[in-house]
This record gives sequence, C-alpha cells and structure tokens, in this order.
Amino acid sequence: MANHPEPKPLPGSPKAIPGPEHAMLKLSYGVHVIGSHSRNGDLNAMIADWVMQVSFNPRLVTVGIENDARTLRFIRETGVFSVNLLHEKDGDVIARQVVMPSESKKVRGRPDDMNALVFNKLEGLDYGIHENGCPVLNSQLGWFTCEAEQYIVTGDHTLVVGRVTDGEILRPGEMLIERDLGWEYAG
Ligand SMILES: Cc1cc2nc3c(=O)[nH]c(=O)nc-3n(C[C@H](O)[C@H](O)[C@H](O)COP(=O)(O)O)c2cc1C
Repeated sequence: MANHPEPKPLPGSPKAIPGPEHAMLKLSYGVHVIGSHSRNGDLNAMIADWVMQVSFNPRLVTVGIENDARTLRFIRETGVFSVNLLHEKDGDVIARQVVMPSESKKVRGRPDDMNALVFNKLEGLDYGIHENGCPVLNSQLGWFTCEAEQYIVTGDHTLVVGRVTDGEILRPGEMLIERDLGWEYAG
C-alpha cells in the first residue's frame, strides 16, 4: 500500500472568519471516494464530502469537485464516475490512502522538480472496474455509478450532476462520516 503523509489542514479553514461561517462546520457529511477514468484508461480516486441526492425521478446526485482536480478533468472527458461509500469500521484506511491529489503539482510546498509526478492512489486497494470503466471499491459499504448530465461552475468547485445508473450495497453497517474521521472540508 502506498505511503501518504498525514493530511495537513485544508485551505479555507474558517478559524479566522467571524460570523455565520462557523455554523457551516456543523453540517454533517459522509465520506465518499469518487472513482473516475480518463479517455486513455488512467484511473483515479478522490475523497469527497460534497455528495448529495437532488432528484428522485430521475435519480440524480451532485458532487462538488474542485475546478483543478484531476477527477473533474477525467469526468469531463468520459462523462462517467463512481461514488463509493466508505464503511464506518475501516473506511478511514482508504481515506488516508486517497486523500492527496494525484498530481504532485497540486500539492503546495512540493519542489518544482516533482511537478510531473502522478500518484496511483488505487495501488494496493481492493477494487474492480465497473462496466463504465470507473474503479469501484470491493470491500466498503457500497457504491453507485453515474453518468454526468450537467456541470455547474460554483466558484472554486464545479457541481457535477449525475444520473445514477447502477449500484450495490456490499456490507451491513453505516457510512463513515467526516466527524468520526476527524477531518474537515467545510467553512
Ligand atoms: C475529508 C475531505 C473531504 C473532501 N471533500 C472534497 C469534496 O467534496 N470535493 C472536492 O473537490 N474535494 C474534496 N476534498 C479534497 C480532495 O479530495 C483533494 O483535492 C483530492 O486530492 C483531489 O484529487 P484529484 O486531484 O486526484 O482528483 C476533500 C478532502 C478531505 C480531506
């Protein structure tokens, strides 16, 4: 399994921001892994809190993805992605492995000569490839797949609206939530 450094506090942390922004830290999020692939078959996985259902019929979800994420580029290329639900019991191990950006140039403070490095965050993980080409975690709580229908740029993130095409629950139990993981992506 690849060794990734402990995550640093994320940019945008509202410690110095007064007022109602603090209330946003009370929002509850599940911890998901978004699986994607490029046009030439490269695979990627990223942690995302910002996933929610937005329609019953058709069944639609949105995922808020950083504009410079490799995942967003891949989804725009192929129009598909998977949403993997981490398990409360052992999902933290997966979260630690996939938390870093795959492209070294996105990690602040890294020397320029590392810019070309791309990490394979899936190395060593138990995953399969869905018929839509995206990686799907085999031993977590469950997963669903989506076809991207809309892209709405919302500031520094893009909301990808996806139509749910397939899905499965793999184990009994509940999702890992951000509060239990002790990380924060809000504010
Ligand atoms: C707990 C946690 C939740 C996160 N949630 C999101 C999210 O909802 N959307 C997002 O774009 N990035 C989120 N991130 C940051 C991305 O996972 C990170 O930028 C990722 O490395 C991008 O991967 P990629 O460039 O390989 O696609 C989160 C990070 C953490 C630690």
